[in-house]
Amino acid sequence: MLEVARHAPSGGFSQGFDFIAQPDKLQFGMDKEENWPVPFWTVDTSMAIMLILLASVNEGLGAWYFGITRGEHDVVRELGVPPSCTMLGVIALGYPSSEDKPRGSVFTIRRRPFEEMFHIGRW
Ligand SMILES: Cc1cc2nc3c(=O)[nH]c(=O)nc-3n(C[C@H](O)[C@H](O)[C@H](O)COP(=O)(O)O)c2cc1C
Repeated sequence: MLEVARHAPSGGFSQGFDFIAQPDKLQFGMDKEENWPVPFWTVDTSMAIMLILLASVNEGLGAWYFGITRGEHDVVRELGVPPSCTMLGVIALGYPSSEDKPRGSVFTIRRRPFEEMFHIGRW
């Protein structure tokens, strides 16, 4: 499971995630919403995006997520999105061409090793 996590998509293949295997959630007060350092809904939406990408591949489609860095306000206004919502990015879908030869980012940037990304008990 942890090995699969190393292959999660990341902006610019930055791989800016680390995981600490820590069995005691309550000790750190992580059972209370107000103690969360990031909004629930950002994480929730990111998880939903990942599921859409995986489901798309399962259906034989090509799927791609990209962040939007400009023009966001025009897009959400055009789409009638309520002002209380924040756009997290775009999911693009298509049919892969038989001539496509996708090359992962790992061909140009080193993937962080397992030992660097996963910490047992503490960092
Ligand atoms: C937050 C985020 C933003 C991303 N933005 C872009 C993007 O703007 N353009 C793009 O081509 N890919 C984008 N990606 C995809 C990443 O470049 C890709 O997942 C990462 O480099 C791993 O590459 P691989 O799946 O080919 O191994 C984004 C991924 C994430 C998670």
